[in-house]
Amino acid sequence: MIDTLASIAAEMRECKACPLWKTARQVVPGEGSGDSGILFLGEAPGFNEDQQGRPFVGAAGQLLDELLAGIGLDRTKVFITNVVRHRPPENRDPVPEEIAACEAWTVRQVAALAPRVVVTLGRFAMGRFFPGESISRIHGRARVVGGATVFPMFHPAAALRSPSLRPAMEADFSALAIFLATVAAPIPETPRPAEQMTLLG
Ligand code: URA
Repeated sequence: MIDTLASIAAEMRECKACPLWKTARQVVPGEGSGDSGILFLGEAPGFNEDQQGRPFVGAAGQLLDELLAGIGLDRTKVFITNVVRHRPPENRDPVPEEIAACEAWTVRQVAALAPRVVVTLGRFAMGRFFPGESISRIHGRARVVGGATVFPMFHPAAALRSPSLRPAMEADFSALAIFLATVAAPIPETPRPAEQMTLLG
């Protein structure tokens, strides 16, 4: 079977692997495109995401959009999802059992996208790759772990709660842009002879 993002999302709509489906309005599978090779992995849907079935559409999402725009990207060019895909009641933190229950979806989305880089937003997504690490220590730098290149960042909601974090988030997005343009740059296709002629002539 070909595992596409659409088929994964369709299956996810039936997910009852943890009890969150009982209190959430709907699943929030994730959205965007894999074309840029960038996967953003957040924490869990909040009120607005639960209402709309789309990730990062509330205040944290607005800041994420601004930070993406600051490096010339927009949400249609990246894929955005969360480590937990049903809203926890009252927006409480997801518990380890919920993250574990949702892990199979994370594995399948990562496999389907084969991203150049996974940008983790906040400590829960970071913890999936670097358990026990401190986000303050490792944010803003790419690291390779288990075959994936991971770029940990603070969660935009943290920068909304503590505005003093915003310059660090902006610096991390600039570092991500440089990383994508250099170390993780796609290998340019070799032009075919006719194209070379056009380019030269
Ligand atoms: N916070 C998250 O981590 N994910 C969302 O989708 C929205 C807010």
